[in-house]
Amino acid sequence: MHEEYKIWARDVLARIEKKMEKVSVRSADKIPYTTKDGVHDDWSGDDRIGWWTNGFWGGMMWQMYELTGQEHYKAVAESVERKLDRVLMDAQSMDHDSGFKWLPTSVNNYRLTGNPASRNRALLAANNLAGRFNHAGQFIRAWNDWGDNGPDRRGWAIIDCMMNLPLLYWASEETKDPRFAQTAMRHADTAARCFVREDGSVNHIVEFDVDSGEMVRSYGGQGYGDGSSWTRGQAWGLYGFAQSFRHTGKREYLDTAVRIADYFIAHIPESGLIPVDFCQPEEPAWEDSTAAAIAASGLLEIWQLLEEKRAHGAGSMESGRKYLEAAVGLLRTLADRRVNWDDAADNLLEKCTAAYHDRDHEFSIIYGDYYLIEALMKLAL
Ligand code: GLY
Repeated sequence: MHEEYKIWARDVLARIEKKMEKVSVRSADKIPYTTKDGVHDDWSGDDRIGWWTNGFWGGMMWQMYELTGQEHYKAVAESVERKLDRVLMDAQSMDHDSGFKWLPTSVNNYRLTGNPASRNRALLAANNLAGRFNHAGQFIRAWNDWGDNGPDRRGWAIIDCMMNLPLLYWASEETKDPRFAQTAMRHADTAARCFVREDGSVNHIVEFDVDSGEMVRSYGGQGYGDGSSWTRGQAWGLYGFAQSFRHTGKREYLDTAVRIADYFIAHIPESGLIPVDFCQPEEPAWEDSTAAAIAASGLLEIWQLLEEKRAHGAGSMESGRKYLEAAVGLLRTLADRRVNWDDAADNLLEKCTAAYHDRDHEFSIIYGDYYLIEALMKLAL
């Protein structure tokens, strides 16, 4: 059965490769976030270079390089990475999202080419990320304050940050210094305790008292409201805990990933199309394809982890089949109904939504494309 999925995923990737041949040339000098009338925008200017999604285009170029071996993709990826050096030198732009920026770019470059400059960038980013740790509350702080008028966010942590922890695990593996991984694990422990609810759903934002470390309250954040289930947050959670298990072997992280995954799978609508929030009202029925792509990649991570465990004789581990099937279902729905296969359009996924209460909904977003390709590669290779 997996063989059949593999053949299918290879076929979809071949179609994506064909399209990306053209898109990567058209957008070679950009760092895109979304599209307007099918054309990538560009976030590489000084005012937008710190945006949290600016590692994904470079990451997609490394994905294409791995799939095709074509040097053009490597050159575009390297140029994105160099542009991000401006962020490394700007304290105000350096936030909890260093993993999203430098894992797809510098860590990938170092993994594939051994480039020492990339290793240096990723270590600088990891050091900055570790420095955001609040010792009283044992969490990595989200965002920075951008002036006197915004909310006091010194005590805020978000579920998305689970996806940044692999930069810290990587730094420990690379330097043989456990400090980075220790910090990541303390944050993951806090997240397991304070973000994950009884039913396996997760909060987006949790606020802690910055001095005592006590949990103050949660916020709905980019979802529908406090106590609701923002789907991309559920996806970050299930994927992030799975990655923490991969790097540490701590069984509680895999159990947590599985609980969130079970909640996610139980709430997938019959259509297979993922809403912005599992608790949103019937109208307006906003959709978020990025949540589907991220969840699919995370579910495949869980499937791989469970299968690896079984292969190593951990008899009590349950089969990963349920997670494989759910991921394939999400990916088939995206490929059939939400990928724009027109070569003239720069994006892959349609109907992505950044936040439920934003003015705009259901457009293309670059990280949806990145995680779609990533998930397909896990299935195909
Ligand atoms: N990490 C921010 C988001 O998922 O929109």
